[in-house]
Amino acid sequence: MTLVTELTSRKADTTAPLIDPLVDRWSPRAFDPNAVVDEEALRTVLEAARWAPSANNSQPWRFIVARRGTAAFTTAHDAMAGFNQVWADSAAALVINIAEIADDEGKPRPWARYDLGQAVAHLTVQAQHEGLHTHQMGGFDAAALHAAFELADNLEVVSITTIGVLGDVDALPDVLRERESAPRLRKPLAELVLLGE
Ligand SMILES: Cc1cc2nc3c(=O)[nH]c(=O)nc-3n(C[C@H](O)[C@H](O)[C@H](O)COP(=O)(O)O)c2cc1C
Repeated sequence: MTLVTELTSRKADTTAPLIDPLVDRWSPRAFDPNAVVDEEALRTVLEAARWAPSANNSQPWRFIVARRGTAAFTTAHDAMAGFNQVWADSAAALVINIAEIADDEGKPRPWARYDLGQAVAHLTVQAQHEGLHTHQMGGFDAAALHAAFELADNLEVVSITTIGVLGDVDALPDVLRERESAPRLRKPLAELVLLGE
């Protein structure tokens, strides 16, 4: 079995049966640089984010969607840390995840980042269901993107989600290729549940 074949399945080794998109989801760095994610698929994953729950139904998530080859994609790519730039350029699209941290009157929205994360989680699961892969990142200059996209003061750039189709892991630099085959680990449930059987 080749490395590439192995990497098409990085299923989670779960201790309870989960729905397929949760088992199948993982964060690849090898995306197909020629794959295009069509309009309908992008709309579908954003629709999944739209229907996430939020505090007081405030829906404090905003997104900038940038397909590969656009000026917005280049702007986001330029703001990334070098270790992310080397792989993220192959993704079909980037979604810049933005939290509305205060309302129009300036009243803070304390759950905004929590709600945004939940919306992004919905997006990733729906993307997996659509046969796409996602890889979120925090390694970029959020202030640079805030300025470049001329965002309002009550908006905070929190993360970027790369979306695409799995590509050839052998095209990655050595150090990243090794990471792609490292075991996927999680803490045991017993360590995460502080109280409760
Ligand atoms: C908020 C956030 C920030 C992340 N930042 C980066 C990053 O800058 N670069 C990167 O390669 N991966 C990044 N990741 C991906 C995580 O490393 C990855 O989700 C984690 O190792 C678990 O792997 P899995 O998603 O394949 O299960 C980030 C993930 C999240 C949720």
